[in-house]
Amino acid sequence: MNPPPDVLEQTLFGARFTSPVLLAAGTCGFGEAIIEVMDLAQLGGLVTKSVTVEPRWGNPAPRVAEFPAGMVNSIGLANPGVEAVRREKLPWIRDHLQDVRVFVSVAGHTPGEYADVVGRLDDLDGFLGFELNLSCPNDSRRGGLPFAFDPDALASVVADVRRITERPLLVKLAPNTPDLGPAVRAAEESGADGLTLVNTLPGLVLDPRTRRAALGAGAGGMSGPALRAVGVHATWRASRLTALPLVGVGGVASGEDAVQYFLAGASLVQIGTASFWDPRSAGRVSDEIRRFARSQGVRSLREWVGTARVGPDAGTEGPAGAAPAASPAPAVQS
Ligand code: FUM
Repeated sequence: MNPPPDVLEQTLFGARFTSPVLLAAGTCGFGEAIIEVMDLAQLGGLVTKSVTVEPRWGNPAPRVAEFPAGMVNSIGLANPGVEAVRREKLPWIRDHLQDVRVFVSVAGHTPGEYADVVGRLDDLDGFLGFELNLSCPNDSRRGGLPFAFDPDALASVVADVRRITERPLLVKLAPNTPDLGPAVRAAEESGADGLTLVNTLPGLVLDPRTRRAALGAGAGGMSGPALRAVGVHATWRASRLTALPLVGVGGVASGEDAVQYFLAGASLVQIGTASFWDPRSAGRVSDEIRRFARSQGVRSLREWVGTARVGPDAGTEGPAGAAPAASPAPAVQS
């Protein structure tokens, strides 16, 4: 008799994920460093550093600064450019990360640049899909206004890329879009297969003595524990608006943090800031989810996904797992 499937396993985007925990874009480069520090069997996947058409050297140092509730960064999308990624990074991923589900993050200043990057990488092996970074707060495009703020521009990026690739396409949205609805609908209608919520929130850390910004670029993107409630809320809002699979990111540092995102509607989570503090955090969080599931009698992630009880009508009693809302069920396959 076959053993029962592990609680962490699921099939999404046509691929088997052994864990719902991925490393977020910008936290692990192209994966080279992680093979030295963690057991890859504990990692559901990773998202690469965002790739642009041209190499980018990035913003002036310091690029990262911590504060008690998290950190701010302004890296400026530093990356070696699509040709080096095609020539060196993706072949390395193909040869070393066979069992890791890899999404290539893509950024650009125009819809054409996204399509160009995707078109130049799509025929390579060794990765599952693309995550379109439409929400970087540190880019100079239109004075820092990301595509995620403009549903027509967002739709045009996604539709252009959709014409080029059949691979799974995640669209990464911003936490500070005034109304998530138009962005979610634009992504879905133009061909997204899933949504990643959320990118960092614009933030500024000042040194009260020098009066200077902690980051060389000035303001940056805020992440870490302070972002978690924002990310969980955005995930929950998106789950009311779409049946696309959702990927939650923002402040995940423990198994129970991840479960908050599952309850809000995410099928996968990504770890960002916590992996800077503890490079093995993805494995630890996977173990913690498994242990917490056991303690709650949960045998499949599906028992959690989208079952948050939110608002005065949700009541205060009953076991975790009672689904409250008449909204589309998140498209989790298993
Ligand atoms: O500055 C950066 O490279 C940040 C990128 C992002 O948050 O998407």
